[in-house]
Amino acid sequence: MSELAAKLEDLHTRFAAAVAAAADERALETVRIEFLGRSGEVTLVRRAIGSLEPAQRPAAGKTINEAVEAMEAELARAKSHLEERVFDQALATKIDVTFPSIAPLTGTVNPIRRITEATCAYFRRHGFAVVIGNEVEPDYYNFDALNIPRDHPAREGFDSFFLTDTLLLRPHTSPMQIRTMQQYRPPVAIVAPGKCFRRDAVDARHLFQFHQIEGLLVAENIHFGHLKGMLTGMCRELFGPDQSVRFRPSFFPFTEPSAEVDTTCPKCKGASPTCNMCGGSGWIELGGSGMVHPNVLKEVGYDPDVYSGWAFGFGVERLGLTAYEIDDIRRFINSDLDFLKQLQ
Ligand code: PHE
Repeated sequence: MSELAAKLEDLHTRFAAAVAAAADERALETVRIEFLGRSGEVTLVRRAIGSLEPAQRPAAGKTINEAVEAMEAELARAKSHLEERVFDQALATKIDVTFPSIAPLTGTVNPIRRITEATCAYFRRHGFAVVIGNEVEPDYYNFDALNIPRDHPAREGFDSFFLTDTLLLRPHTSPMQIRTMQQYRPPVAIVAPGKCFRRDAVDARHLFQFHQIEGLLVAENIHFGHLKGMLTGMCRELFGPDQSVRFRPSFFPFTEPSAEVDTTCPKCKGASPTCNMCGGSGWIELGGSGMVHPNVLKEVGYDPDVYSGWAFGFGVERLGLTAYEIDDIRRFINSDLDFLKQLQ
């Protein structure tokens, strides 16, 4: 055997051993570079051709080329074996489809928002627009324009978080009555939901930050019966078909006459003297209402001899307590998931 053939055979043997030992594609690539790469062993052997007799060179070149072809074929075979092995391993991996999964927390609409939306939907269906007001209002909109002059004792119950001498976090949504009427000529029909703030001590029925929904309808020939009809419809939609509403005489400077609005206790339907929801009275209080005071109409440039209207302002949390039969208003803001999940 010629010297070249011996060299090539030795090289091939070592190459075959290295290929067989390569555990993955990266190792195979290393072997390729080491033997067949540009400065690999085969290249060194090729260079030796130069020192042969010219007549021997073609045969030597052919021998080398054949060896290289064989090695390349082996390399390709080894590579496809490796790929098959990786694929088989992937197929062999078992997935336990019965393993309990962790359910993603998707979140949901807060009950306060849901009640607000349900109430707005009812009024929208009856032709009311939904308007959103500012949470910070000058005292003019909170009080003066609502017929509550400075020094009027009615300010006491509303006085709350002042940012400057004249600017405060609104204690009710009634400023939106003024802003709406200043912006539009009658007829106007709006509901205005949103946050309100009062310096109330927090207990089962009070929060210092809560939500109200204001309603206002002003046009010609509007009377108290329209108010009663709309509110009865609202309570039936929110709490059930047998609800009624009751008006108790009350006082607000911006309405005359004024009334507190109650609705049938949805829990006992007025039937249980020991009901823990209504305290046995059979009624649940929703908020204030009344016919818009002539002074308020005058303030916004409406003629009280031509136009009349009603307004109401209800606590959304109060509606929530009623709708969901909840005992404590603080539950709405405690972010207690176990509680919130029950209301989904
Ligand atoms: N703004 C009043 C309150 O917060 C409620 C109300 C609104 C009363 C509209 C009458 C008319 O107590």
